[in-house]
Amino acid sequence: MAKTASPQGLAWYLDAKFGMFIHWGLYSILGRGEWAMHLEQIAPQDYRPLAQQFNPTRFDANDWVRLAADAGQRYIVITSRHHDGFSMYDTALSDYKVTNTPFARDPIAELADACARQGDIKLGFYISLLDWQHPAYRFRAESGLAWADYLDFLHGQVRELCTQYGEIACTWFDGDWPLQPLDDSNRYFAPGGSFEYEALYDLIHTLQPDAVVLNNRHATPLPSEDIQGFEQDLPGENTSGFNTEAASGLPMEVCMTINGSWGYRHDDHNHKSSRHLVHLLVRSASAGANFLLNVGPTPEGEILPIQARRLQQVGVWLQGNGSSVYGTRAGAISPGAGTVSTRRADTHYVHSLDHLSDEIAVDNVPETVRGARLLRDGTPLTVQRDGAALRVLVPEDLRDPLDTVLELR
Ligand code: GLC
Repeated sequence: MAKTASPQGLAWYLDAKFGMFIHWGLYSILGRGEWAMHLEQIAPQDYRPLAQQFNPTRFDANDWVRLAADAGQRYIVITSRHHDGFSMYDTALSDYKVTNTPFARDPIAELADACARQGDIKLGFYISLLDWQHPAYRFRAESGLAWADYLDFLHGQVRELCTQYGEIACTWFDGDWPLQPLDDSNRYFAPGGSFEYEALYDLIHTLQPDAVVLNNRHATPLPSEDIQGFEQDLPGENTSGFNTEAASGLPMEVCMTINGSWGYRHDDHNHKSSRHLVHLLVRSASAGANFLLNVGPTPEGEILPIQARRLQQVGVWLQGNGSSVYGTRAGAISPGAGTVSTRRADTHYVHSLDHLSDEIAVDNVPETVRGARLLRDGTPLTVQRDGAALRVLVPEDLRDPLDTVLELR
């Protein structure tokens, strides 16, 4: 039988609910998103010199991990190598790497140390399957290399990431899109053969039994993939055009950008409000999914103050309401006008996202529910029950502008 993550690894992941995604690499220097190399048709030999400019003197792993903790995030997923092929850690398998820049440090090792010190945040890795510069991926004809050479590199990097940084949360693959239409502008995206997922996933599940495997393929998950990912959409929605596949029954994760970009874009000021971010987090949780929220640090190594502030605001809300998120599972009470729900065993949390009136009406309320109180301070609330329907009186002065959580049991 195909190997999967251990039950305790999966349970940890499901309980964690909220993570920080970090897209950071040479593209951050350009400030035009992580796809700049492809979109602007920059040839590898013209892109590579960016490495000589990479020197994020303001990078402090402890600051990033502290920010994630303040935001209430329980794991961090960082780009170990994105499609541009540059490794953000000290790999032995390529010279095109962060330790060969003026910076000369391994930020991923520093993050792993900071996570270990912090204690309750795990580190995981984004790994690009696609490589826009590797001679064995893109230039086999010119280099005389074979697809097997690329597989050695890819599987070798995964082995490094699974052995050099302690216990990890996940491996997060990206860049194998079976539905990607290929034309002359992107023919070099095509792999030279199979990624040999069976062996790849087996390696991860053997070296890191608790780590979950996610592959952002926008297709039904393969055997040994532990998590089904949704990109820029909640499960069941497809506003981004990526998420055409149905929920498979696997645990899920929603990944989203805090503004409109993954990698740093200097002209993207479209940051989501903290209220909207809380709603995305609880809507994900109500569907049984984790929420992985991306930040794109600057080339100097800073998470933009506005992004940090938004994260901290979400963290403040979680301090009073975290028990309606962490360790919960998809809601049993049907979503209503402006409400969604989460649950932990027989405790149900109704999240009132919009203040439509002073009475919150919900349906499909389990029989075990006897009463309601405000989660953040225990204020008892007046309820009226009519069969499976329940109305809860929540006057204006008890409202939380981000999300008013009622605890029902
Ligand atoms: C898409 C983008 C990629 C990004 C990823 C994050 O697949 O192509 O650049 O890293 O989404 O989910």
